[in-house]
Amino acid sequence: MKYENRNKFYITTPIFYANARLHMGHTYTLVLADILARYHRIIGDQTFFLTGADEHGDKIVRAAQKENLGPQIFVDALSVASQELLSRLAISNDAFIRTSDKAVHWPGAIKLWRALEASGDIYQGIYEGLYCVGCEAFITEKELVEGKCALHNTVPETIKEENLFFRLSRYSDELKRIIEAGEMKIIPESRARETLAMIGEGLSDVSVSRLMGDVPWGIPVPSDPSKVMYVWCDALANYLSAIGYGSDNEDNFTALWPADVQILGKDILRFHALLWPALLLSARLALPKELLIHGFITSGGVKMSKSIGNILDPEEFIREYGVDSLRYYLAREVVPTEDGDLTREKFKEIYNANLANGLGNLISRTLKMSAQYFDGHVVGDGTQSPPIREEGSREVLLGEVELPTIRSFVEGVILPRYHAHMGAYEVNKAMDDIWEIIGVLDRYITTYEPFKLIKTDREMTERVLWGVLYGLHEIANMLTPVMPGTSAKMNDLIEKREEGAMIIFTTKTPSEPLFVRKI
Ligand code: MSP
Repeated sequence: MKYENRNKFYITTPIFYANARLHMGHTYTLVLADILARYHRIIGDQTFFLTGADEHGDKIVRAAQKENLGPQIFVDALSVASQELLSRLAISNDAFIRTSDKAVHWPGAIKLWRALEASGDIYQGIYEGLYCVGCEAFITEKELVEGKCALHNTVPETIKEENLFFRLSRYSDELKRIIEAGEMKIIPESRARETLAMIGEGLSDVSVSRLMGDVPWGIPVPSDPSKVMYVWCDALANYLSAIGYGSDNEDNFTALWPADVQILGKDILRFHALLWPALLLSARLALPKELLIHGFITSGGVKMSKSIGNILDPEEFIREYGVDSLRYYLAREVVPTEDGDLTREKFKEIYNANLANGLGNLISRTLKMSAQYFDGHVVGDGTQSPPIREEGSREVLLGEVELPTIRSFVEGVILPRYHAHMGAYEVNKAMDDIWEIIGVLDRYITTYEPFKLIKTDREMTERVLWGVLYGLHEIANMLTPVMPGTSAKMNDLIEKREEGAMIIFTTKTPSEPLFVRKI
């Protein structure tokens, strides 16, 4: 597809290290990005959603060695596994970039490097210091905790080698100005402050090459093939190369860049909020409009790690609960900008309460009544459905004036809120909006008791059911970005047709519940 720069929405995730299979933390980044990408497609933006694999560097070479495999074969196999998982997670990415792809990625990375050189920002020096392979980063003594990298709990290696440096320091003032002015908006605000604090401490130039002899797995530096590009420079270039930067035809790049939002976890803030924009400034390219920084998925309150043994495998949850339930949990139970916890116990509890009993039960009760009382055809125009009254609510106390119907409540109150939340990446709040409708519909049924009403007032019963079906149909639409499978099933079970001022719902009865209760 050819992209035009009209209502375009370019969204990226970081590219995942190809050293191990993706776990629940990576899944969170992917699901969050996917929800936003799907939402933007629905509202009509020409959306391009990019993810991929970070396949070069020390970390990968060592992981491959452990398996007695060459790095290319090793990353090829992992890339297949990752893409299979992506499809099981219903991730709707438009491209999957791999940094070992010489045809697609290398030309872009090389073009970026040449642009840095042309700006005079690459110079030769000696790097002497510490390197953490887990971070793929040079680190300083003061970042260590008891002599170890705080993130990886490993003792860094000491390196002394002739390297090429990038003049990051030159961009301090410009970066500060850009972040303060919100020209590259960092969300949430607290992460913008954190970035400004890092600038305040002073930015040193960064070593951006390694010796080919030490790390023979990367993109050779164009002007000096005895060196390979530092893996972060190589990796960050993916956001450009994947859309055609450095290729024979840069039309898509011109139409899509800059990225509208780049999603990343808090552990890689420094690389994306400092090094990345500095590289772009040096290469005279536009900066991403927004960076959205999310927290960690913890398990039992602790960050997942191999040594603790609390790594959660998304496949296990997909098998047991279905992919939409997993997406539901990540969307609703995690505040994107904070850490969020997931344990098997909590998952089951939430699943039973909100999916099996909440949404699932509401759907099955409603469809049963529709089939039993109206043969699956419920007709109305919405204005006649009785108002929402909640016992003791202000509206009831004020009398009957201007009580909302289900339709006016959804259209006038919930939809604007839902769109505002989605637009602001507050996916969990958009989910709360949907569940607010579910709560209202449950109480609506309790208030009007259609199962009793049918014995005395058939017309009123139809109006009540019409309201509930209207609400459910709207819920199905709102759920599309988060739970695409469930939404499609709901749309199949509840078909909506308009005839003049009338809206007719034709319903089917599902052969099995949408969400089976787990014991
Ligand atoms: N390869 C680099 C990114 C290069 S982008 C130019 C990298 N890869 S990663 O595989 O370690 O992480 C990829 C993403 O997964 C990051 O956004 C990271 O924050 C996220 N997560 C990894 N573990 C996580 C949790 N436990 N929780 C939530 N997300 C975390 O960094």
